Amino acid sequence: MATREGTLQIAKKKVPLIPLLSILCFISIFFLLSQFKSTSTSHHSLPTFQIEKHEYHRGSCDYSDGTWIHDPSRTPRYDNTCKEIFKGWNCLSAHKSNAPHLSTWRWQPRLCDLPQFDPAEFLRTHTHTNIGFVGDSLNRNMFVSLFCSLKSVSDGQIKKWRPAGADRGFTFLAYNLTIAYHRTNLLARFGSWSATDKRGALETLGFREGYRVDVDVPDTTWAQALSFHNILIFNTGHWWWAPSKFDPVKSPMLFFNKGQPVIPPLRPDQGLDMVLKHMIPYMEEKARLGALKFFRTQSPRHFEGGDWDQGGSCQRDRPLSIEQVEELFSEKNNGTNVETRLVNKHLYKALKGSSFIILDITHLSEFRADAHPASAGGKKHDDCMHWCLPGITDTWNDLFIELLKSKYQG
Ligand SMILES: *[C@@H]1O[C@H](CO)[C@@H](O)[C@H](O)[C@H]1NC(C)=O
Ligand SMILES: *[C@@H]1O[C@H](CO)[C@@H](O)[C@H](O)[C@H]1NC(C)=O
Repeated sequence: MATREGTLQIAKKKVPLIPLLSILCFISIFFLLSQFKSTSTSHHSLPTFQIEKHEYHRGSCDYSDGTWIHDPSRTPRYDNTCKEIFKGWNCLSAHKSNAPHLSTWRWQPRLCDLPQFDPAEFLRTHTHTNIGFVGDSLNRNMFVSLFCSLKSVSDGQIKKWRPAGADRGFTFLAYNLTIAYHRTNLLARFGSWSATDKRGALETLGFREGYRVDVDVPDTTWAQALSFHNILIFNTGHWWWAPSKFDPVKSPMLFFNKGQPVIPPLRPDQGLDMVLKHMIPYMEEKARLGALKFFRTQSPRHFEGGDWDQGGSCQRDRPLSIEQVEELFSEKNNGTNVETRLVNKHLYKALKGSSFIILDITHLSEFRADAHPASAGGKKHDDCMHWCLPGITDTWNDLFIELLKSKYQG
């Protein structure tokens, strides 16, 4: 939707300038509109998908619309010996009972296929390339999946280092391919804040402690990533609904713009909008020429019977049914994991009209209540937020790479 409207606006702006151009624009608008009309009525004509692909920055179909199919012949690209797998996500080593079966499920989009990407081919076709994952631990989970997939087939040495402020990164030297993870929870810079000036705007309103979030300042961990990477995958979401750190009373998020507190103070969801409003244009402006920028949608949590700190757990051993998914995630039900789709609304609004490719992994992941570490995560509470590896972020990478290919072709 975003890009279609963007295109129309640009076309309209040009209309008064040159008559010939305006005629061409109108013709193309009518052409596009007629194509979109036929999209909504017929899902079977191939040319329509071509237009859709171009306009929506997607592959040849809606990959988020599908089902999980059990396929016992399917095997993961790597195993539990990949050292980069964080201990709490290594469900095979932790003997989570269904861990060996997680990858025997295959995501089947309704109107096309999503093949497992071929890591050897990926290495061959992505020489002299830098790929950066920028975001929270869920993006690290996806980064580790890509690393382990590539490592399982790569010849030659891998250099471990921290490019451009990254938390961790690797160069596959034989291919000059670098992949890195830049850790940032909110995208914007934040740090603890406490009252200093009795007459300060926040102090006057009664604030004593909290976290200062500078909506217009990128975290130092990724500010340099934009001039380094050719391909970037961003995310943010989980920390905006994480009262464990940002307690609305004891340690609220306090938003600052241009160095001054935003008054009246914003709720976290309003702060998220403001951060995205500043960070997305920053990313667009600072990215390398020709860089491909992805924004990943929110990864769903699956706490049942309470939130993470209320004894909630995720003990499923197979994917949920569509009814169970709606029960758990519909906004109407306002359940424990309701933030998943709410975060996406904020993301979609902010990305509208941008050049970002949306990596929509939300709905396909919503089914996979079985794929979290749960009690095998080795924490006091169940981990129903991160994903076992090998596991579902392997499918995220399949989708990422499928979309990449469609960009090269289109
Ligand atoms: C490796 O790739 C980077 C990123 O494209 C490039 O800047 C650099 O020159 C390459 N190095 C070699 C030795 O080819
Ligand atoms: C949703 O649930 C939470 C906690 O259970 C509650 O605080 C909030 O008011 C509810 N929101 C709506 C819109 O019903």
